[in-house]
Amino acid sequence: MKYYLLFFSLFFLIYCAICEDVPDIIGEESTLTETEIQFHLDLEKFKDFVKEHKKIYKTEEEMKKRFRIFKANLMKIKFFQENDQGTAEYGPNEFSDLTATEFKERYLGLKVDLRAKDAKPMKKAEIPKDVQLPVSFDWRDHGAVTPVKNQGSCGSCWAFATTGNIEGVNAIKTGNLVSLSEQELLDCDTIDSACNGGLPSNAYEAIESIGGLESESDYPYDAAHEKCKFNSSEVKVSISGAVNITTNETEMAMWLVKHGPIAIGINANAMQFYRGGVSHPWKFLCNPGSLDHGVLIVGFGVHRTRFTHKEKPYWIIKNSWGKRWGEKGYYRVYRGDGCCGVNQMASSALIN
Ligand SMILES: *[C@@H]1O[C@H](CO)[C@@H](O)[C@H](O)[C@H]1NC(C)=O
Ligand SMILES: *[C@@H]1O[C@H](CO)[C@@H](O)[C@H](O)[C@H]1NC(C)=O
Ligand SMILES: *[C@@H]1O[C@H](CO)[C@@H](O)[C@H](O)[C@H]1NC(C)=O
Repeated sequence: MKYYLLFFSLFFLIYCAICEDVPDIIGEESTLTETEIQFHLDLEKFKDFVKEHKKIYKTEEEMKKRFRIFKANLMKIKFFQENDQGTAEYGPNEFSDLTATEFKERYLGLKVDLRAKDAKPMKKAEIPKDVQLPVSFDWRDHGAVTPVKNQGSCGSCWAFATTGNIEGVNAIKTGNLVSLSEQELLDCDTIDSACNGGLPSNAYEAIESIGGLESESDYPYDAAHEKCKFNSSEVKVSISGAVNITTNETEMAMWLVKHGPIAIGINANAMQFYRGGVSHPWKFLCNPGSLDHGVLIVGFGVHRTRFTHKEKPYWIIKNSWGKRWGEKGYYRVYRGDGCCGVNQMASSALIN
């Protein structure tokens, strides 16, 4: 009886394998198209991404939607990678489940149209003629740059570019590096729009009329627009005006070496997928005429490619998306051809 059962089971198993499973397996193999293989590869990448960045999606709908966006972004990443003229590496980072529009709304915040039509133009910066430009220079080596900050999900880049500039100019002037308050600008600068965007040029004017900036620790960052809590007896730095720095990148470097880090506007298209290296996208991928992000140039250098020894001059840019992004929070972008509009909106506060 036992043997009979065993025999029967074996027969059944073999029958199943031959008549059902086997054709299925063959069928699957022959129809596993390139698209399906790609789907599985993308899915693996998405799982890694979710794990690495501790993403939590509330519903399955949401997860499916994010996976769709992630897949579309992988195509964009490939395109940026294949078309980079520098040494940049693009790949999934914490922003890879966002559409370009979502990314722009939440993590950028340079609003060019916030400059009032009747605002008086900024004074032109005087370019020092006595500067012998070194091959490389970095204000981080001279105690003029605070640690990388994080604007969070708030379009307040403009405030970080502004404080970064004033922190630097003040440190060079006084020998004292003080981290300054972006939150004060979000709450008390009525020319700009807090998490909905702003401009360094407006912020300098606002700081002058508010009466100065408090420190980061006295007026900490909340990534939201709140009631102005400015206290004039806590002012750490006040400014006496601001200057519009040239678009000539050689002269920008001369100004930087002499006076300090420069607040700029840039097109952040390539930054959504940046992981490191010298970013040098073509103009059609990074229109220099549409600036959408405010950041801080803290230095420059030249990269020599390993085998062909081609020179890639670059700017060193402090971003405000935390230390996990890019090169420990920094971005390097090609220097010398107005890449991504890096030279289109350079400015600095003046401190007496
Ligand atoms: C800075 O100078 C440029 C070029 O001259 C000009 O287009 C721009 O409007 C100026 N910016 C400000 C804020 O004055
Ligand atoms: C302003 O700051 C000073 C110095 O820290 C403090 O003594 C004072 O209480 C503050 N005023 C208000 C209204 O918070
Ligand atoms: C940029 O500035 C440098 C130094 O002043 C000068 O030699 C060069 O001709 C300028 N370039 C352009 C395109 O004006």
